[in-house]
Amino acid sequence: MTALTRADWDVTVPLAPPPAPPPDLVLHAAAWTDVDGAEDDPQEAAAVNVGGTRHAAELGAPLVAFSTDYVFDGSKRAPYVESDRANPLSAYGRTKLYAEGAAGENSLVVRSSWLFGPTGHNFVRTMLRLGRERDEVAVVDDQFGCPTYVGHLAAAVRGLADRGERGVWHLAAAGECNWFELAQAVFEAAGIECRVRPISTAELGRPAPRPAYSVLRSERENAPQLPHWREGLRACLAELGEI
Ligand SMILES: NC(=O)c1ccc[n+]([C@@H]2O[C@H](COP(=O)([O-])OP(=O)(O)OC[C@H]3O[C@@H](n4cnc5c(N)ncnc54)[C@H](OP(=O)(O)O)[C@@H]3O)[C@@H](O)[C@H]2O)c1
Repeated sequence: MTALTRADWDVTVPLAPPPAPPPDLVLHAAAWTDVDGAEDDPQEAAAVNVGGTRHAAELGAPLVAFSTDYVFDGSKRAPYVESDRANPLSAYGRTKLYAEGAAGENSLVVRSSWLFGPTGHNFVRTMLRLGRERDEVAVVDDQFGCPTYVGHLAAAVRGLADRGERGVWHLAAAGECNWFELAQAVFEAAGIECRVRPISTAELGRPAPRPAYSVLRSERENAPQLPHWREGLRACLAELGEI
């Protein structure tokens, strides 16, 4: 297995020289993920997300491309399934939708949501840090989704890749909540004394619009079922030594 960083390959340009023979499988997770920043620089976000995915597809290997709940507008009030019409609200969401097309028909496109794990920048790790620095954090309570633990997502993706599946699949944790509830769950589980003040998306005033409701479920009969997000949270906190 070879893991490439941005220093090894800037995906906005084709990989040169291309690997020969092609790898058995490419897991393409590189992306412009600055949702607000993409509003100011949609072309560069597209160069990374759409161009990068096209270049990953050009490697000529079976491809897994990661996509997002932000391809939906959030106007539905029941879980989004694969056949629901995508209608992204943000520049980031649009680039990810175009990226799904750039991945090509033979790829496995995995739409997931609200990812967290023991490494990298994510909401759970940010709350653990802020909760120890502050007495109170303000968190939005009007966006609903499925916080998904990357360990559970990885296991499900492996299952689909081993079966040679193709097409768009929704893989997200069971259950749903809003960011306010997730922050409360983090503090409760980690024993952190910090108040969570609910605020609205409008009050927060971020540049990029987000879907108010983006719960993902699969309509496919043989879709992997991920554990509940609270189970994912416990697994992540245990990995971090927090519980
Ligand atoms: N996080 C979520 O909640 C979420 C939800 C749904 C779907 N997704 C999707 O899941 C995938 C992984 O997301 P993530 O949360 O792990 O994102 P992330 O933490 O922002 O990681 C993205 C990675 O892509 C790299 N990258 C950025 N531009 C690049 C370029 N031009 N060439 C090569 N590498 C580049 C970044 O490198 P640097 O570290 O050097 O910048 C970083 O290592 C993305 O496709 C994302 O759209 C994420």
